[in-house]
Amino acid sequence: MYKNWLLTRRNALRLGLATLAGVGATIDVQSVDTNYQVQSFVKSKRTFNINSKKSLKERAANKGLIYGAAIRYDDLISHPEFAKVVAQQCGILVPEWELKWSCGNKLLRPNPHSFDFKPADWMAKFAKKNSMLFRGHTLVWHESLPDWFKNQVNSQNAESFLIDHIKTVMKHYAGKVHSWDVVNEAIGLWDKRSDGLRKTPWLEFLGGDYIDLAFRVAAEADSQALLVYNEFGLDYSTAEDEAKRNAVLKLLQHLKSKGTPINALGIQAHLSGDKNDFNPQKFREFLSNVASLGLKIMITEMDVTDKKLPKDLVVRDRIVAAAYEDYLSVALDEPAVIAVITWGLSDRYTWLSEFQPRSDRAAVRPLPIDAAFNPKLAWNAIARSFDNAPRR
Ligand code: G3I
Repeated sequence: MYKNWLLTRRNALRLGLATLAGVGATIDVQSVDTNYQVQSFVKSKRTFNINSKKSLKERAANKGLIYGAAIRYDDLISHPEFAKVVAQQCGILVPEWELKWSCGNKLLRPNPHSFDFKPADWMAKFAKKNSMLFRGHTLVWHESLPDWFKNQVNSQNAESFLIDHIKTVMKHYAGKVHSWDVVNEAIGLWDKRSDGLRKTPWLEFLGGDYIDLAFRVAAEADSQALLVYNEFGLDYSTAEDEAKRNAVLKLLQHLKSKGTPINALGIQAHLSGDKNDFNPQKFREFLSNVASLGLKIMITEMDVTDKKLPKDLVVRDRIVAAAYEDYLSVALDEPAVIAVITWGLSDRYTWLSEFQPRSDRAAVRPLPIDAAFNPKLAWNAIARSFDNAPRR
């Protein structure tokens, strides 16, 4: 139904222009096709009607998909009302902080010789109690490393630290985790390496094969978990994103050719409501190329920053919702895509409040549930995307 009258962006623009013209505005069609204001106007007129109150969890499951969110332990235990919405809406839960080496006030690795699993254990139990899958993020990354790391880890012992961390953490949750982001954000084209890898401590100490090693250790530690390579900046038709898509594809082809036990690509999908260069065809092609390697695909950290959008809530929410629906209507057409995870569930708890605040200091609204824990148009947009997705 939705696809029958789905307007292409250009047709939608003409519709919008016709509307504007109708109100006496005279606009040269050619000159405004890239005019952000007009595209926003058009997007902000879209409705996002849905036909039932079924949760995102149910709508996704009806199509053989998984929906969930990244959540923090502190927010779950301090707000039972929020915990209830998480349990109701999410079919999978990923700790935003608690399974990193060290993040915020959570220290999985308080020192080189110990692990503190308490917060993540509580979250794993919460997920199980509420019939949610549980996912791990992330085992090997260059960020959120504990303060002791730089003084204790070097090229002599880095391999044993990497192996010990992966084995200990994964064996602790063996059989209880749907998927692990084994390696996160390893591509960094600005470092100008021929393999496109980012210069991280792991690369410095172990060379480019650290990625293959990490996946091999992970496969031995928990044969049931899907092993994922997770990356950002793969979404738009900009030269930068195109180059990064090509570099990720090259890395995945290299790993597959080595027999690396990798099962999926995680596409973080941190989108921007003010960007209008999402090219469905290019993105569709990328997803298909990844799938042709025999890999599954997970949308792992989706949100839509409204940092540069107008302050008006009605316009802002519609543009954010349109970005969710435009992106997911393409992503979910690819059968290899198995899950959509938003990076947070409620606007009250989003990393963007701190990392990408609005210049007018208005509260940001990047997620499907508002700060009072009610669904927004973005929730409708995600719901419609699941309802219109082909069944897996
Ligand atoms: O709350 C503490 C504060 O008490 C302390 O004074 C301060 C200085 O150390 O840190 C504060 O915690 C920060 C926390 O965000 C809350 O602001 C951590 O340092 C900071 O590292 C943490 O950032 C997280 C970031 O990953 C790094 O781990 C974000 O919450 C989290 O949303 C973000 O998530 C990442 C994914 O893991 C990977 N993909 C990108 C995504 C967004 O950056």
